[in-house]
Amino acid sequence: MADAVLNGKLPNHLAIIMDGNGRWAQARMLPRIMGHRKGVQTVRLIVEECTKVGIRFLTLFAFSAENWSRPKTEVRSLMSLLKKYIRLEVPRMMRNNTRFRVIGNRDDLPEDVRIALDDAMAVTAGNSGMTLTLALSYGSRQEILQAAKAVAADIVNGRLLPAELTENSFSDYLYTAALPDPDLLIRTSGEMRISNFMLWQLAYAELYFTEVNWPDFGREELHKALNDYRLRERRFGLTSDQLRSVISG
Ligand code: FPP
Repeated sequence: MADAVLNGKLPNHLAIIMDGNGRWAQARMLPRIMGHRKGVQTVRLIVEECTKVGIRFLTLFAFSAENWSRPKTEVRSLMSLLKKYIRLEVPRMMRNNTRFRVIGNRDDLPEDVRIALDDAMAVTAGNSGMTLTLALSYGSRQEILQAAKAVAADIVNGRLLPAELTENSFSDYLYTAALPDPDLLIRTSGEMRISNFMLWQLAYAELYFTEVNWPDFGREELHKALNDYRLRERRFGLTSDQLRSVISG
């Protein structure tokens, strides 16, 4: 129990790899896109529930840099679902005081989607409740590589000295510059991989895997994951005793 007391909190930043839409559809003899459509309903539900329970940062892996290689029709459908989702959700984001952000290589996205995303980010920029971040055309190695290039450029231009580079200052070159590191990562559908998602940022995150496919991941599943997190002891490399004395000051 002492461990539960040590960590009796909600994750400040929850990140989710939403997986299993295709398998959910295939198991019902439906086209894959039906799985994605049902997946969008789950996104709405989970965003709403996270807002309600008081999660400060929620990041959803919605489209990876590698997902561009999927069949063109599936990519097109996902882009159109995404655009529709953004347009429909902005009023709710405003009602819920949600700030919307995107991480990933936005340049790869179709122009109409980019415009919808930019509008949503601009309109919600002043909100101070939960920050909802969608990872789109996102790949963590690509992110780290572009950060390394930007660091190299700043050094060449004399804006940065190699000795000034720290874990903190390097983080500012990542897409996630304004976000704290995730405390908890959930991945659905039974896959136990990180799949090129926030490799730097997940260094100390708790990992939670569930067999449930994303379209079936409901409030109850979310609370199961949050309860599981509550019972874990995060030591950040320290011993339990050290941690206790840090916490008790
Ligand atoms: C994984 O299922 C899911 C995705 C590739 C994308 C997730 C997208 C959505 C939930 C819908 C769009 C998102 C938003 C925010 C509007 P999969 O197709 O990889 O499933 P499989 O592994 O069973 O094939």
